[in-house]
Amino acid sequence: MEKRLRIDLIAAARPNFMKIAPLFHALREEPWCNLRLVHTGQHYDHNMSDTFFKDLNLPPPDLHLGVGSGSHAEQTARVMLAYAQACTGTRPDLIVVVGDVNSTLACALVGAKVCIPVAHLEAGLRSNDRTMPEEINRLATDTIADILWTPSPDADENLAREGVATAKITRVGNIMIDSYELMRDLIQASGMRRSLGLEGKDYGVVTLHRPSNVDVPVLLGKLVGQLVKISEKIPIIFPVHPRTRKNLERFDLWQQLTVAPGIQVIEPLGYVDFMNLVCGARLTVTDSGGVQEETTYLGIPCLTLRDTTERPITVTQGTNRLVTADNLLPAINDILAGHWPRGRKPGLWDGSTAARVVADITKRMKIPQPAVVQDDRNSNVSGKRMFSNI
Ligand code: UD1
Ligand code: UDP
Repeated sequence: MEKRLRIDLIAAARPNFMKIAPLFHALREEPWCNLRLVHTGQHYDHNMSDTFFKDLNLPPPDLHLGVGSGSHAEQTARVMLAYAQACTGTRPDLIVVVGDVNSTLACALVGAKVCIPVAHLEAGLRSNDRTMPEEINRLATDTIADILWTPSPDADENLAREGVATAKITRVGNIMIDSYELMRDLIQASGMRRSLGLEGKDYGVVTLHRPSNVDVPVLLGKLVGQLVKISEKIPIIFPVHPRTRKNLERFDLWQQLTVAPGIQVIEPLGYVDFMNLVCGARLTVTDSGGVQEETTYLGIPCLTLRDTTERPITVTQGTNRLVTADNLLPAINDILAGHWPRGRKPGLWDGSTAARVVADITKRMKIPQPAVVQDDRNSNVSGKRMFSNI
């Protein structure tokens, strides 16, 4: 019987789906790979989860852990319990985690504890702000991962500074760009801009969901006030994240936002429709990690409402700038006056990251080319020893 490499691909929350999709499609083509798609259920609303499976042509997950929302401890613990059980049932040879959400760390911990090799895609990013839950997830995941796939030189430098062995690191580029390139035709064909009456017009796209922006009533109130002012200069489309919507309602800010004539408040969009909107935008205002990258790739001005970014290359090479609620309006004026750097695409942000990941797995796992592993003699060898570089 043919022995194939069992790989678990972990997805959990909105930003994960566009990171696993290109890899799923690439690995599915490989005869040596036995892929299991695992959804932890961290995000569960139709428009935060199922929509992305449809948009990105992903099949339903092989395993759905159904963990849902909760405190950091609850969520992380629930994923660990459920995923540990799944690994006992069918032990993968490699666990691939992406990004920096709680489920990323939880599944990496499960793998590390039972000596299943863990690979982290989007490794090495650092905001150097440990008040961000994602920064803790990044630091801890990268400390225990066996393979670190990085998107940019700054990530390699961060890992080197932290003492991660060079042999564990492969720079593969930015997987988000693979998703965009895979979906480019559908994104162009989406009628989203037209259906919102925006085709050929100037408009801004806003997304906000970081606790540091949306969990503090005074700050969220200030941001809403600024968005209303901006909307007097340029129409705004704001697909509202569920965390943000809850807080806008709880803090009595929903009405102020929705009555502003220049602001269209809408439900979170699927990937294809959202990117159709971004592609036609004059500017974006965001605190999203992914949007900073997408706008750099597309050359669209991006104002990031944060003090730090774990994606500094979007500022040094791209169109991204960090702003506060107080200097948001002057920055918008600069953009509208045409005073904004055009930026350039960072190296290896080219749509071929999934192929580089597959090549790296092939190399590290010593998979013969052409790639069918013929026998089952090593089936009791722990996955860890199957690696050449770890
Ligand atoms: C999570 C990630 C964050 C990522 C973001 C992407 C962590 C620590 N945070 O933040 O890094 O940038 O996803 O969107 O992993 N909710 C719903 N429906 C859903 C999902 C969430 O209503 O489908 C609501 C719940 O009230 C929940 C809240 O949103 O408590 C926050 O969800 P959670 O997954 O804990 O964090 P996010 O803010 O979504
Ligand atoms: N996105 C989407 N619909 C939306 C908002 C965002 O499809 O209404 C996509 C977009 O491609 C973005 C990605 O979701 O890059 C990342 O999601 P999010 O901002 O929630 O997470 P982060 O990147 O901040 O972790």
